Amino acid sequence: MDARPIGVFDSGIGGLTVLKELLSQFPNENFIYLGDTARLPYGSKSAETIKKYSTQNLDFLKDHNVKAFIIACNSASTQMQEDHYQSIPLYNVIGPGAEEAVRLSAVQRIGVIGTRATVLSKAYDSKIKLLSPQAEIYSQACPLFVPLAEEGWIDDPITNLIVYRYLQSLLQHDIDTLVLGCTHYPILKNSIARVTGSEIQLLDSGEAIARKLQEDFKILRITPSEKQTQVRICMTDSSKHFISLAAKILLPFQAHQFEVVNL
Ligand code: DGL
Repeated sequence: MDARPIGVFDSGIGGLTVLKELLSQFPNENFIYLGDTARLPYGSKSAETIKKYSTQNLDFLKDHNVKAFIIACNSASTQMQEDHYQSIPLYNVIGPGAEEAVRLSAVQRIGVIGTRATVLSKAYDSKIKLLSPQAEIYSQACPLFVPLAEEGWIDDPITNLIVYRYLQSLLQHDIDTLVLGCTHYPILKNSIARVTGSEIQLLDSGEAIARKLQEDFKILRITPSEKQTQVRICMTDSSKHFISLAAKILLPFQAHQFEVVNL
């Protein structure tokens, strides 16, 4: 059995929404998670900077002997679409999210929300178009969602108003599926659902990648360890607020170790 951990990284703690899905799909795997909290946000940075930071994050995880990399961060995923990094399998959230959107959408009218970097990259648009050339894609950057989620304003009238303000024009296009193309957005799912209504399916990129990996890991023979899962969380900067928010996001799972690291 291969007890090496699976390495997951995000620009911060939002990627714990992805780790949580992975923990429920892979209860016997060990995980090491890196949140680059010192350099967050990535979503407002240039493609070059995001790529540079992402490479450093992958190098850090590689030094911890991981058997696969998962890029939870959508903004980073748009810049790192290779399927291996230094011969180790590399997964990003764009492909699985796009595949799931095409599968779910009955009318092939799909909305994508994300950071500015994600929306500008058009990574979801290209993947969706590749899979479904007739699909119509409507995107909207929602940069204020990240600080709202980090502030913990999860079911708050102000959050509802901001969600409405961002999504109002997207909703004019009769979409039936909305990709939550940012790690933090599942935290605001209730507010988003209140605005989109029950006719629009919300697609969480964490759920999509966890499902996709179930199939791929079998093909790659990435075998789980027999011991109980160990979850190690590393951050490049830490504060009490981040640690308590991280613990909340991860519930019902728990990290075995929290540590601050230098890249
Ligand atoms: N993790 C980022 C993403 O999924 C959101 C936060 C940031 O901008 O760094 O795009």
